[in-house]
Amino acid sequence: METSKLIAVYPGTFDPLTNGHVSLVKRGLDIFDEIILAVALQTPKVPLFSLSERVEMASRTFENFDRVLVEPFEGLLIDYVRSKGAKAILRGMRAVADFEYEFQMALMNRRLARNIQTVFLMTDYKWLYISSTLIKDVARLGGDIQGVVPDNVLKGLYRKFGRLE
Ligand code: COA
Repeated sequence: METSKLIAVYPGTFDPLTNGHVSLVKRGLDIFDEIILAVALQTPKVPLFSLSERVEMASRTFENFDRVLVEPFEGLLIDYVRSKGAKAILRGMRAVADFEYEFQMALMNRRLARNIQTVFLMTDYKWLYISSTLIKDVARLGGDIQGVVPDNVLKGLYRKFGRLE
C-alpha cells in the first residue's frame, strides 16, 4: 500500500495502556501524520486482558484523536507495518534496562525490512518508573493507581480485580 502520509506503527502488548504510552503517542504526533497503535495478539507475555479488552480500552482513550488509529494485529509486526504503508515503528525507551530488548527487536525488524525504521522516543521523566506490570500489581493488591492510567483503564483494572460492581 503506497501513501504520502508519514505513518508510524506503535506496537505493544498494552496490557493495559498507561499514561506513559499515551504521552508517547502525543509526542509522536509532533513527528508523524498518523500513528497506528497496534495491539499485539502474539506477545512474549501472558496478558491479563484479552486482545479485545486491550483494543477496546486503547480505542476509548484515543477516541477524540483523529490522527490515531487503534487496531489489533497478529503475526509478524513487520508484515503488519508494511500492509499499512507505514515507514516507521515507534517505541518508547524508559531506561537503560529497556535498551537491550529494544535493540534486539529493532535489529531483527531491520533485518526483515531495511526500508522500515524504528524510531525511539525517550519516555517523559514523569513516567520513567511505571510499567504495565507494576500498575497491575499495585491495582491487584488494592493500591491507588489513579493518575498513572487513563480513567477508563482504571475502571477496567478495578473491574478485573473485583474492586468495582
Ligand atoms: N511509559 C511507561 N511505560 C512504558 C512505556 C512508556 N512510554 N513504554 C513501554 N512501557 C512499558 C509497558 O508498560 C510495558 O511494561 P511491562 O513489561 O510491565 O508489561 C513494557 O514497557 C513494554 O510493553 P509494551 O509497550 O506493551 O510493548 P511490548 O514490549 O510488550 O511489545 C511487541 C512487544 C508486541 C512489539 C513484540 O512482541 C512484537 O512485535 N510482537 C509481534 C510478533 C513479532 O513480530 N515478533 C518479532 C519481533 S522482532
